[in-house]
Amino acid sequence: MKKIMIGAALLALAGWQIVAQVSKGKTRALETKTWMKTVNGPQCSAAAKMLKAGPADDKEWAALLTNGQMLSEAGFVLMADGRCPDKVWADAAKKLQDGGAALATAAAAKNVDDARKALNEGVLASCKGCHSAHKK
Ligand code: HEC
Repeated sequence: MKKIMIGAALLALAGWQIVAQVSKGKTRALETKTWMKTVNGPQCSAAAKMLKAGPADDKEWAALLTNGQMLSEAGFVLMADGRCPDKVWADAAKKLQDGGAALATAAAAKNVDDARKALNEGVLASCKGCHSAHKK
């Protein structure tokens, strides 16, 4: 009986650990939702808005390049500090690293088709992949 109770307590602790990992890393202050609100959300909406009509001038291409760099880096932040709980998360974070980088490359080359492809098949697929499993 004692053993069963200890087992149950350990299981509860493991479950709590996974929830804690998703919403926050292990040692640093940053909560996942803070990053989403300040980086992923705004960078992604700015890129999507820009790519509706397509960047109009050098300044707008430069802004899109920034969005791609920040989104790619976000993919690394999401893997840092023991935040990643499983393979779904890891795959989505990798997709964001690569999709953001592809968006930055397309913006540097001022290629609107490649930029849209990087946004839709890379970045947005990454958001969706992780959220469908991990965002309550
Ligand atoms: C690897 C996982 C992962 C990826 C990739 C991801 N998110 Fe999230 N996101 C989360 C989790 C987990 C939450 C819920 C956090 C919480 O409430 O504790 C969240 C919440 C959010 C929120 C709500 C924040 C709030 O106000 O509470 C926004 C907005 C958001 N994500 C935008 C994005 C966008 C845009 C992308 C793609 C560019 C993205 N996310 C990619 C995991 C991810």
